[in-house]
Amino acid sequence: WVNEDLYIYKGFWHFNFLWGVFSLEAMMTLQHTFQAQPTDIYLITLPKSGTTWIKALAYAIVNRERYKNNTLSSHPLLTYNPHKCVPFLETEFFGKTSVYTDGCLPRLLATHIPYSSLPQSILDSGCRIVYMCRNPKDVLVSLFHFSNKLRDKSRCRMAFDEAFEMFRKGVMPYGPYWDHVKAYYNFSLEHPNNILFLTYEDMKENTVNKVKLLAEFLGCAFTKEEEARGVVDEIVRLCSFENLSEVNKHGDFREGVPNDVFFREGKVGDWRSHLTDEMTKVLNQITTEKFHGLDISFEVGS
Ligand code: A3P
Repeated sequence: WVNEDLYIYKGFWHFNFLWGVFSLEAMMTLQHTFQAQPTDIYLITLPKSGTTWIKALAYAIVNRERYKNNTLSSHPLLTYNPHKCVPFLETEFFGKTSVYTDGCLPRLLATHIPYSSLPQSILDSGCRIVYMCRNPKDVLVSLFHFSNKLRDKSRCRMAFDEAFEMFRKGVMPYGPYWDHVKAYYNFSLEHPNNILFLTYEDMKENTVNKVKLLAEFLGCAFTKEEEARGVVDEIVRLCSFENLSEVNKHGDFREGVPNDVFFREGKVGDWRSHLTDEMTKVLNQITTEKFHGLDISFEVGS
């Protein structure tokens, strides 16, 4: 994550080449050629906002019938990284490198594409969209660590000040953060039946209830009998940070990208141990201004 790697397109920053695919070109191609289906489900996030978690949860919820007779240890999420189970539209799906999209319905896909560049057919098809956002201060911290872990050895580590400067100016993959969140938030107000707007923090605080809400929104609410059998708790456990980080301790998501890079702390509020008071003030102020009038709030700290 450095300025020179990113290109601006319709007001948002994008990687040109990501996970082996020319992702900016892919996104531009998909805008006009991709055919969404009304039954599709899209999980939309900014990087480091809980994409891995929401992928695992949605996958486990939607496919629970399919795997109900499997022993827990043979569930795909216990073998494959969640990113393999739910491909990104602009990289794995476009590059045809995913393993678990084998004709299953509904199609479960993820993307970081900003609202203004989303394929038109997704907006027109009436399909379901789940958008999850996270406190910008935690997104910054998470992105800082993620980028440094993935930096090739020829580049020196990024300093936190440098990461902060870029983030506050909006320079992050698929950012500016605030514009990405705001556009999807406004879309969710216009189309409440099609888009479920979640935050990482709410999900953490009230996981069981949010998982039930997610299942209901995805059109496969848990039955009373399933709840009594403890299916919801099982899914929450299966997709928990503790479980998935253990399962993904070894192996590579793809060449040069270890599975464990998607799991770090999995906590709310780690920004407190990284941001100075001044940095906190700056990001709080931008968030207040940009989200003025929107019902989105995050812990600001003192
Ligand atoms: P931290 O770096 O703060 O720990 P993304 O999946 O969008 O790349 O986001 C990664 C962030 O989500 C990381 O945050 C990671 O630890 C956290 N995460 C990954 N899996 C999780 C899970 N199952 N539950 C909660 N948080 C998770």
